[in-house]
Amino acid sequence: MSEFIQPNLKVLIDRAQIQERIQQLGNQITTDYHGKSLALVSVLKGASLFTSDLMRCVDLPLTVDFIAVSSYGAAAKSSGEVRILKDLDTSLKGRDVLVVEDIVDTGLTLNYLLDNFRRRDAASVQVAALLDKPERRLAHVDVAYTGFTIPNEFVVGYGLDYAERYRNLPYIAVLQLEES
Ligand code: IMP
Repeated sequence: MSEFIQPNLKVLIDRAQIQERIQQLGNQITTDYHGKSLALVSVLKGASLFTSDLMRCVDLPLTVDFIAVSSYGAAAKSSGEVRILKDLDTSLKGRDVLVVEDIVDTGLTLNYLLDNFRRRDAASVQVAALLDKPERRLAHVDVAYTGFTIPNEFVVGYGLDYAERYRNLPYIAVLQLEES
């Protein structure tokens, strides 16, 4: 069966909706960051697709760098533990940092990262997240740019994985796990 069409996947946000919303976010970021020193910081691996589409919708000079943090691995629940697996290559000193994340769930990952980036003397630190699952929040985080607010379901696709699979889906789908 095609990887793109499976009975355990229920499409939540389709390809066209994602692209339309990213264009809107890109327009807003273009307005807000005019004249600033924009540094996109993408959180691997989940935000890789969002980052590559979003940066093409921002009509400003910018840099992009990538950080990798520990993920859930094959589990669908957050451990709350954050480890940097790959750090940034560039300095954030004096830069207007926009952290690009796939999803804010408990908020623990972003809370850790924002604190970490602020200590690197950035001029400002804001967040763009494609998805927000507010029901599961444990740590407060201010998200300046949100793509979509979604219910408390485990989602995959468009960069998001379950056990490293499904990242290549061009849409966001709810994954029906066997045990649920
Ligand atoms: P948080 O620290 O709980 O906010 O989790 C953030 C990270 O957990 C995200 O960047 C994702 O990599 C992962 N995550 C959270 N919810 C989901 C989901 O529904 N599907 C896939 N990954 C998720």
